[in-house]
This record gives sequence, C-alpha cells and structure tokens, in this order.
Amino acid sequence: MSNILETPIQIGAYTLRNKVVMAPLTRMRSTGNFAQPELAVEYYGQRAGAGLIIAEATQISQQGQGYPNTPGIYTDEQIEAYKKITDKVHEEGGTIFLQLWHVGRLSFKDYQPNNSLPVAPSALAAPGHAYLPDFSRADYETPRELTVAEIKEIVEDYRQAAINAKEAGFDGVEIHAANAYLLEQFLKTVSNQRTDEYGGAVENRARLLFEVLDTILTVWDNSKIALRISPFNVSGIAPEPDPYSIYDYVVKRLADYKLAYLHVIENKEIDPGNGATVTFDTDKLYIKHISDFYTSPVIVAGGFDKDKAETVIEKGYASAVAFGKNYISTPDLAYRLVNDLEPNAFDRATFYGGGAKGYTDYPFYKV
Ligand SMILES: Cc1cc2nc3c(=O)[nH]c(=O)nc-3n(C[C@H](O)[C@H](O)[C@H](O)COP(=O)(O)O)c2cc1C
Repeated sequence: MSNILETPIQIGAYTLRNKVVMAPLTRMRSTGNFAQPELAVEYYGQRAGAGLIIAEATQISQQGQGYPNTPGIYTDEQIEAYKKITDKVHEEGGTIFLQLWHVGRLSFKDYQPNNSLPVAPSALAAPGHAYLPDFSRADYETPRELTVAEIKEIVEDYRQAAINAKEAGFDGVEIHAANAYLLEQFLKTVSNQRTDEYGGAVENRARLLFEVLDTILTVWDNSKIALRISPFNVSGIAPEPDPYSIYDYVVKRLADYKLAYLHVIENKEIDPGNGATVTFDTDKLYIKHISDFYTSPVIVAGGFDKDKAETVIEKGYASAVAFGKNYISTPDLAYRLVNDLEPNAFDRATFYGGGAKGYTDYPFYKV
C-alpha cells in the first residue's frame, strides 16, 4: 500500500525519498567546545530514513549562542564534528541541511564574548527566561542595540558559516528566521523599534533577512538554501499586532528566489501550546494563505500528525511535513507513518542536555 507521505518529492536540488522531514531539534549535548558529540553521529544516523533531516539550530558565532551546549559551525573542530554526521547520514542514503542560527537577544551575558550584553535590533528585553550555562533560569537581560557596522559583521558571520556548512558536507542550509531569534526580532515591530534603514517600514525590517540570504547565495545555489519562519510565534516574543503585513511582504519577495523550500511553523492554528483543543482547519493555515503567491516548495511544521500531514499535502499547501517531538522519540518515524504505526511516546525531561538517555536509546519498531 502506497501513500502520499511515502513517495519521493523534489525539493530544490534534491529528490527526497519521502515527505517525512525531521524538524530542527536543539538537544544541548555539545559539551566540548560546542562541537557535536560522537553520540550525535548515531542519533542522526538512526533518523536518516527521513526524507530530509534539518540538523538542529547551530550558532554561526559565539555571539549567536543563547543556550547551554548547543553546537556551533564557526571553528575547525565544530566543522570536523559535523562532517562525521553528514558522512553517516549520506552513508545511510539520507539528505541533511544545517540550520544556521543567531539568537540575538535570547541569550545571556555568560555566553557572549567578554561577557557583554546580548545584541538585538533594539534595547528591549524579551519576555520569559534565559537558560544559563548550568541550565538554571534567569530573566532575559535588556540587550544592546546593534550598530549598522555590527549588523554587517553578522552578515559576514552568516557567510562564513555557510562556507563552513559546505565544508562539513551538508546538502544545504536553512536560515533560521523563526522562533523569536535574531532575524525574527528584526522582522517584528514588537522587538524592532529602530529608526534607521533596519527599522520601521516592512522593507526595512526585512532588510537584514534579505542581506543574509543574498550573502549565502554567494556560497550556495538557491536550490540548496531554505528559510524558516514562524509568523504567529509568541514564545520569547510578544504577539505581533499584524503579522500578515510583514510576512506577506517577505514571502512575496522570497518567491522570486526559488529556494529549495520555505519552512513555515503553524503554531497558532494547530498547537496553541496551552493544552487547548483546536479544530484542525486548513483554511486558517498560513500555508493556505500564501499558496496564491508562493509556488516553490513549502515544508510545514507545528503539531502535525499523519492525517493532518496528508491533508495539507493533498490540498497542495505543502510539499512535505516536518515533525519535531515525534522525531525525538521515534528514529524510524517515516517508516512508522507510512505503515500506520504509532510513534514512541516522548520524554520531555530528556529533550535538553544529558547523554544517550532520551537521545539514542528510543526503540525502532520491531516486526
Ligand atoms: C526539544 C525541541 C527543540 C527544538 N529545537 C528547534 C531548533 O533548533 N530550531 C527550530 O527551528 N525549531 C526547534 N524546535 C521546534 C521544532 O522544530 C518544531 O517546529 C516544533 O516542535 C513543532 O513541531 P512538533 O509539534 O511536530 O513537535 C524545537 C522543538 C523542540 C520540542
């Protein structure tokens, strides 16, 4: 029996072997100089049956880090560690992109060069709590507003990280412009109150995102570049009063780039995150809204199960669907979804930090 998730799909330069994507998932296990541990080779190798693996958010610089033990892609050691992962995934016949990350204000001075304050478009503290290096929590600090010269340095850091990702053997890169991190902070008025060319009108708030994209285009072909957005995200950021104006502007411009894929997180309509039950209504999805003007491949994420995934693909709103928590717990998730088998239950206590427990020890389905 064949189903729609099982069949291959062309995404930019690649033919994915199925439409089940492993979402980027921060696991905070890179204890030595923020290079991926040996165990990560096994972890990603176990999940290579996905049509595409998007490796976890990876800081492009020390300044871009905001959590304990997250991996970087700015030193030789970090590149070498990732090379083992991409080799393993390729050996298993998989495809793997790297998610390029700068957290902006969602950091803490303990992570920053010279223990300086985290940087952001504007000196506005994020709501919520930072994770300190010892995994304790503290209110976010009021960040320091970036100068234009510093913004240009960050663009350069993205360029170098894109080069490094290539050296590490990735098949492509996904620019992380979601989940309240630096690029989203620039897009949204609730975190960007600049009065220069990076603030105010939509084209100004989107300027950094397109500068980053244009820079990465000097390193990678557009068919190997992707971008992730979360228009309705309210974690680590206040709700944006009119997300449609900025995101429609961005997505319309992105359409001309013909990227490998646009990755949309739909956390508003599907998974409100407060335990409320919501009816799955495809008409309310942002991927439906953009389907009129965005025709390149779209990957969607945020509370999807097999039925919802099939629905959005059948309706033509998405090319493939990314799964987060279920991929943490279920190394053979693609196989299970295709064969109508339940994923393993996930254990939130082992999402972040630690070793093999809750990382490489989730079972495969036994026939
Ligand atoms: C433990 C954990 C780590 C995550 N890390 C990342 C990340 O590194 N980058 C990112 O864009 N999203 C991250 N996310 C969000 C997921 O990629 C995904 O969008 C989210 O979990 C919703 O999908 P799901 O309902 O299938 O879990 C993370 C989510 C979880 C639960």
